[in-house]
Amino acid sequence: MSTIKVAFITGGTKGIGYGIAEVLIKEGIRVAFTGRSEEAVKVAEQALNTLKEGFALGFVADVRNLSSQENAVKQVVTQWERIDYVIANAGVGHFAPIQELTVEQWQETIDVNLTGVFNTTKATLASLQASKGYFISISSLAGTNFFPKGAAYNASKFGLVGFTQAIMMDLRNEGIKVTTIMPGSVATYFNGHIPNEADAWKIQPEDIGQMVADLIKMPARTLPSKIEVRPTSPK
Ligand SMILES: NC(=O)c1ccc[n+]([C@@H]2O[C@H](COP(=O)([O-])OP(=O)(O)OC[C@H]3O[C@@H](n4cnc5c(N)ncnc54)[C@H](OP(=O)(O)O)[C@@H]3O)[C@@H](O)[C@H]2O)c1
Repeated sequence: MSTIKVAFITGGTKGIGYGIAEVLIKEGIRVAFTGRSEEAVKVAEQALNTLKEGFALGFVADVRNLSSQENAVKQVVTQWERIDYVIANAGVGHFAPIQELTVEQWQETIDVNLTGVFNTTKATLASLQASKGYFISISSLAGTNFFPKGAAYNASKFGLVGFTQAIMMDLRNEGIKVTTIMPGSVATYFNGHIPNEADAWKIQPEDIGQMVADLIKMPARTLPSKIEVRPTSPK
């Protein structure tokens, strides 16, 4: 079996997922990633492969669809023989007061941010059991701090923190580490934002990538299970 480690990242076409992919590839780790659009997956795959040829593999797979993730995982294992690190990152945000929040906005937020991570866990669990690997979810400070217009997003991220901490308890005795990272503001395309110079105060996607790279280097005996990370000087 190949000794080169393999990461599987959901939502790796841009933002935090892409930043994590960049850092891991520079660390010599192969990265498979997913996204919803064929074009975005192709563009990201090409850009990541300029860092290290053959180290990035993109798949069209919607986290809401378990079988599409299972299919991506199967192809990764066929090609690279293993998955060591799973980063459940894909997420969306709908922000509206409950008076205006629609059924569709609620449904999409819960389906992607919460059920999507359940699907990612189910699709990758056998691979993680084989590698005694590491599962990391990207929750949010919104998973512990509630705010107006946050009903759907808060519910999804509070739920994700609970889900991730519970599976940490289930999996650690199998030698699988589980961490949830809870970022504050990160300069990404989230909720239609376009990253720009005024975002310099925010956490940058590669900073979360560095955090993931550092986590996987922790001594095997030690598990940082829940990490809050915020901009040093919020504006
Ligand atoms: N930005 C922040 O301030 C911040 C703070 C805390 C937590 N977070 C969390 O960080 C995670 C990443 O967000 P981001 O800020 O990097 O946003 P982003 O720039 O909008 O990136 C989101 C990524 O998720 C993918 N994605 C969305 N829905 C998907 C689905 N159904 N199936 C597969 N992939 C999907 C997108 O791919 P395509 O669009 O190409 O499909 C894209 O690659 C989210 O879970 C978010 O809640 C963000």
